[in-house]
Amino acid sequence: MPVSVIVGTQWGDEGKGKITDLLSRDMDMVVRYQGGNNAGHTVVIKDATFKLHLIPSGIFYNNVMCVIGNGVVVDLGVLIQEIETLKAKGFAVENLRISSQAHIIFPYHRLMDKAQEKKLEAGRIGTTSRGIGPCYVDKYNRRGIRVSDLYNEKIFREKLAWNVIEKLFMLNKFYNMKTELSVDEIINEYSGYAVALKKYVVDESSTLVDEAVAKNKNVLLEGAQGTMLDVDHGTYPFVTSSNPTAGGACVGSGIGPKAIGAVIGVVKAYVTRVGSGPFPTEIPGKVGEDLREKGGEYGATTGRPRRCGWFDGVVMRHASKVNGLTHLAVTKLDVLDDQEKIQVCVAYEYKGKRINDFPTDIHRLAECKPIYEEVPGWQQDTTKIKEYADLPQKAKEYLEKLAGLANAKISLVSVGAERGQIIRI
Ligand code: IMP
Repeated sequence: MPVSVIVGTQWGDEGKGKITDLLSRDMDMVVRYQGGNNAGHTVVIKDATFKLHLIPSGIFYNNVMCVIGNGVVVDLGVLIQEIETLKAKGFAVENLRISSQAHIIFPYHRLMDKAQEKKLEAGRIGTTSRGIGPCYVDKYNRRGIRVSDLYNEKIFREKLAWNVIEKLFMLNKFYNMKTELSVDEIINEYSGYAVALKKYVVDESSTLVDEAVAKNKNVLLEGAQGTMLDVDHGTYPFVTSSNPTAGGACVGSGIGPKAIGAVIGVVKAYVTRVGSGPFPTEIPGKVGEDLREKGGEYGATTGRPRRCGWFDGVVMRHASKVNGLTHLAVTKLDVLDDQEKIQVCVAYEYKGKRINDFPTDIHRLAECKPIYEEVPGWQQDTTKIKEYADLPQKAKEYLEKLAGLANAKISLVSVGAERGQIIRI
């Protein structure tokens, strides 16, 4: 099973960083395939907490090649800062590669992101304001500037000048922002980034991945965000602008689907969401707030409090279907340790009828009510447990219920933030 994909099965923040860090130990290569610094992957190593936004979580192992794939949108300033932070903590970062086909986030993308959100008012997406959507818009509109363009002065200036004129028009005339942007200043700033990053840039990153696959190396394709934030399969328009689902892994890393042997879905034992949009199993009041505090549910990128809810089996089935999940990694089981009773959503009620399939039309979704099955909590500390057999019986029953809803096998259960707090099955 040389190529595996790791995907979030909910609205992101499922704990993919920790699982990727764990799996990376046995990998030769980890490829990040979509998104940008809207993601925040938290990895806890002993007393140190690392929040990675762009660099694949495999970077903590010197023998693992970490590739920022063609499908990623890169904020070069953030990337350089991330490299510097890792170096300051003793990691060499020699094994990083950046695809020359990855698109670059510019200041006007961030400005457009904020301007759009302001204009939308009541219908705001609640983006991370990192310029992700506007950068992907330029990519698909064939106006984008890729990493390779940085190294061709004439092309870079031409493309940038067009973009700056277009965005200034939009920002000033349509969004009334009174903004100034200087092509020369941007060129100066980004030329500095180009020099600093040159040693990491690879042409044809897909060839690099293909060579690893041909040599039967272990390759992990690392997704950011989650299935419900997928621009096609999520709660559109309250989604991100890329495809975190498993299909996006092929496109964003440049390999064909037949190479993929496993699709690992990371599943939080309950559900969270940041930003706006429907969330059927959201828990109002104290129970939801307690989960947020116990689980430390605040955005790794923006610090925003996450909305908390009960496990949603309809979302799980949807994620299983659109990703073709083969394995599950359940995270944050320990956060439920104190619960006396736990609700599991097994279906929705829509206009008086029971439905099992997730409605991706948010207007239908807004009218859905969760149908819960109540299960007893285990009310025991699980944070020191290392073997599945030692888990409380009721915790095992809960996990089996989740696996049944996903129709996939659980292979990992995380019971705390630290590297060692993991149960392999
Ligand atoms: P954007 O990706 O910044 O455009 O934001 C679009 C939506 O995706 C917003 O609801 C964000 O809160 C959400 N989002 C983006 N990245 C993440 C993530 O890594 N975790 C959780 N939510 C995210």
